[in-house]
Amino acid sequence: MVQAGGTTASTRYRVRGGGPLVGTVRASGMTKNAGCKQMAAALLAPAASTVRNLHPVADLDVMIDLLGAIGAEVDWAAPDALRIDASVALTPEAPYELVSRMRASINVLGPLLARHGRARVAMPGGDNIGSRKLDLHVRGLQAMGAEFDLVHGVIDARVNALCGARVLLDFPSVGATETIMTAAVLAKGETVIENAAREPEVSDLAAFLTAMGARISGAGTPTVTIEGVDDLGAADHTIIGDRIEGGTYLFAALATGGDVTVEGITLGQLGVAADKLADLGGLVEETVDGVRVVAGERPCAVDVQTLPYPGFATDFMPFAVAVLAVADGTGIVTENVFDNRLVFAAEFNRMGAHVHTEGRHAVVRGVRRLSGAPVQALDVRAGAALVLAGLVADGETVVHDAHHIDRGYADLAGKLRSLGADVQREGPA
Ligand code: UD1
Repeated sequence: MVQAGGTTASTRYRVRGGGPLVGTVRASGMTKNAGCKQMAAALLAPAASTVRNLHPVADLDVMIDLLGAIGAEVDWAAPDALRIDASVALTPEAPYELVSRMRASINVLGPLLARHGRARVAMPGGDNIGSRKLDLHVRGLQAMGAEFDLVHGVIDARVNALCGARVLLDFPSVGATETIMTAAVLAKGETVIENAAREPEVSDLAAFLTAMGARISGAGTPTVTIEGVDDLGAADHTIIGDRIEGGTYLFAALATGGDVTVEGITLGQLGVAADKLADLGGLVEETVDGVRVVAGERPCAVDVQTLPYPGFATDFMPFAVAVLAVADGTGIVTENVFDNRLVFAAEFNRMGAHVHTEGRHAVVRGVRRLSGAPVQALDVRAGAALVLAGLVADGETVVHDAHHIDRGYADLAGKLRSLGADVQREGPA
């Protein structure tokens, strides 16, 4: 059966616990959470834009197929660069087969509505981590004059001409900020997004749009102002390094008592997670081109609560659980961003961890070493966290349903091996 990302369910990671991870790895370009969105934004201009520093994660294949279905021509301009030619006639319709495989599909809504005045987008799928509503996207676009119907699972949006508006978000949603920003760039007049998401991915999208000719100020702050322009042109943009992928190796360093440098990310992109890495017992320093974490003998337990950037990123939370599982003491984890993100705890407990969940909270009582077991990846980050757990477990851990991990990691096993880990990915490429 074809799963999210287009690979079969029979992929798995086989991990044998070992010693500390030591060395240097480079974070890939942030393909899943930044690159795919910028490819969708390329639909705004009847021109050919180029997005660079992409890596072959499974979600990228879905976005290529989706843009192809909409009518854009997508070609590799270089081994890590895609050229998206949207100068041809587009079909402003995103079909369920593709949208159901990837949350970032919703990023075509703003561009299609802005360029065509019409967008029909099936309700998106993505990770099984919570309810993931779209009301903030819809309300923002309604404030700009769009009308919506939900018919048979398809969002049908229409507008004669988008008009600038003041949009105050209930919550600094990354996706809603991006949708409103991509619609506002071609709207008449000024749009002000208040309580906007400040994630580095949002700033990188603003940089891409600015390269297309958009007029945006304040991206990366809670107030983003967009002055609509009449038309946009081609952009050529290199996406930022993947701070979430990079963070995976830094947390792995802490869990294993290692010394790892991740190139291609900055300390600032980690936000509060940089401080937590230190609180957990790591020596954290910014290097010329990255971040280094030198772990102590055993991590010290701390409490962690996820929040929008610059708070502790929800995508780092499963990695923190992996570290706390072998830490000295007990830590309390509170998940504030998604309502169902702690379901993976049961998989940790199969490995001898002591994780007790109650709603949005998890109490993690550290043990010295986990015990290798067959476990299941439930989403991309929880899956990667189980691989980390396998590094500090006696014997062999097999993480099944690795297609979830493939959505966001191009070469997790290879990079961990380069740091001294014993990890293999098995199953179809
Ligand atoms: C993006 C990232 C994801 C990351 C998350 C938070 C991608 C493809 N995914 O997801 O990896 O974990 O940001 O950093 O980039 N919400 C509403 N109504 C809305 C929109 C969101 O209630 O209209 C809620 C969601 O249900 C969730 C919270 O807001 O509880 C955060 O969602 P949001 O910031 O929008 O995350 P995504 O853009 O979906």
